[in-house]
Amino acid sequence: MEIRLLGRHDAPAYQALRLQALRDSPQAFSASVEDEANRSLDEVVTRIVPAADGSVCTLGIFVDGELAGFVALLHPQRAKLRHCAELAGMYVAPAYRRRGCGAALLRAVIAHARAIDGVRQLGLSVNATNMAAKALYRAMGFTCWGVQPQALRIAGVFHDEEHMQLRFDP
Ligand SMILES: CC(C)(COP(=O)(O)OP(=O)(O)OC[C@H]1O[C@@H](n2cnc3c(N)ncnc32)[C@H](O)[C@@H]1OP(=O)(O)O)[C@@H](O)C(=O)NCCC(=O)NCCS
Repeated sequence: MEIRLLGRHDAPAYQALRLQALRDSPQAFSASVEDEANRSLDEVVTRIVPAADGSVCTLGIFVDGELAGFVALLHPQRAKLRHCAELAGMYVAPAYRRRGCGAALLRAVIAHARAIDGVRQLGLSVNATNMAAKALYRAMGFTCWGVQPQALRIAGVFHDEEHMQLRFDP
């Protein structure tokens, strides 16, 4: 397995897997298929190619050369927020689950965030009912600091979201 930053050539594979993610795990994401189904390849490229200002990048995990999962890392550029990074959109395709891909991807994004000068914490939000993801995040040291009631409304049903944080030693 290989983990690397996604680039423009990964856009078609990323978009296919992203739409699969939104279809098969609607409760895990705040975006819906309708939001993203009509994105042009250029829009997808802009989304995944590391931003020149360092505000966003996406890591992909490849198994036998196939994109098996991804996670985005957001780094706010405003001075008062530069110590806080956030991960988003974590996904491993069903065929590759329970083989350590999620843990490897999470370790990689944590290492990436730690390596950014000045970043002291990594945050995320997770559907409170998502036991698999919560177990993975907790195993990696994330702790829940708050719950937003009814943060998501999916097909008419409200879902709470847990906000989690991993703080880095200075
Ligand atoms: C959550 C997700 C990324 C885990 O990916 P994965 O490749 O299966 O994870 P791993 O194999 O590395 O598992 C790591 C740990 O996560 C936990 N875990 C993973 N799947 C689990 C499950 N179905 N039930 C309980 N715990 C689970 C376990 O603690 C596991 O460690 P173990 O295998 O030693 O028990 C994957 O299930 C997924 O993409 N789900 C749909 C999208 C999603 O929920 N994304 C998160 C949005 S916040």
